[in-house]
Amino acid sequence: MAIWQGKTALITGASYGIGAAFAQRLAAEGAHLILTARSADRLAALADELKRQHNTRVTIIAADLAADLAADLAADLNEASAPQHIFDETQRQGLTVDLLINNAGFGAVGDFAFQSLDKQLAMIQVNVTALVALTHLFLPPMLARRHGYILNLGSTASFQGVPFLATYAATKSFILNFSEGLWGECKPYGVTVTTLCPGSTESNFHAVAGSERHNAKQSAESVVEIGLQALAQGRSHVVSGWNNKLMVWMERFVPRQTVIGMATKVFQEFARKN
Ligand SMILES: NC(=O)c1ccc[n+]([C@@H]2O[C@H](COP(=O)([O-])OP(=O)(O)OC[C@H]3O[C@@H](n4cnc5c(N)ncnc54)[C@H](OP(=O)(O)O)[C@@H]3O)[C@@H](O)[C@H]2O)c1
Repeated sequence: MAIWQGKTALITGASYGIGAAFAQRLAAEGAHLILTARSADRLAALADELKRQHNTRVTIIAADLAADLAADLAADLNEASAPQHIFDETQRQGLTVDLLINNAGFGAVGDFAFQSLDKQLAMIQVNVTALVALTHLFLPPMLARRHGYILNLGSTASFQGVPFLATYAATKSFILNFSEGLWGECKPYGVTVTTLCPGSTESNFHAVAGSERHNAKQSAESVVEIGLQALAQGRSHVVSGWNNKLMVWMERFVPRQTVIGMATKVFQEFARKN
């Protein structure tokens, strides 16, 4: 895809899993990168590797997207501290972001009522609030240039409530609905906003979520390929993999309670193991 050659991509959650695979793929396509996550050491190692392999420009900005929202919200309802820091850093270094990939995110499997509230709120902060803030910061310059791309990470969990993963699935529903709205708003300006909705994918996600799920069906590399292709095609959203596509399509014809019942059976198993 020569489309990414010479473009600058900002990838959140680039230290592991799907985000790191985006970095690898885009560097191989000739894009320049801005990588962000909490794990500065991993970002530095990845940046060194990509610079060596692809002779591309890689900037790293370590930031915790869950950090200290409250103080900032009081000062300005539009901006959270870490997203603002990331934006300011790109401005300071004179970097123009052509492609924003809002990939950072995490889940937690278990009964909502018995999980820590702090963790649920941090999840909303990283998955939703930071994504909205970053989009709000980087979108206006794209609209002004009448050119740009935003890829937001949804999930097959975007399409229905998921028992024992309730907050996570709700964040992913938000991302799909929010991004579809922006897709319609931004299309006339030549800016594409696409939601990539993977199913179970090989990454650290399941270990972090506490599900220790070992039957991940897709590689992070194939999810990345599908996402970048959909973005280049200007699509509003894409579900990765035929099994996942079929599942999401069939759900439309089944009562919502039936779908939730099926999801309960799957995720109860993982919740019990916690
Ligand atoms: N894997 C799946 O089955 C699957 C399915 C559907 C959707 N997704 C979505 O895909 C995206 C990527 O997840 P993944 O599967 O690649 O999981 P992963 O391997 O656990 O990677 C998650 C990334 O998010 C970053 N992150 C987490 N908390 C953060 C914070 N507070 N501040 C900044 N960065 C943070 C992590 O970096 P640090 O720890 O270094 O901060 C890491 O780079 C997520 O949005 C996830 O919801 C995954």
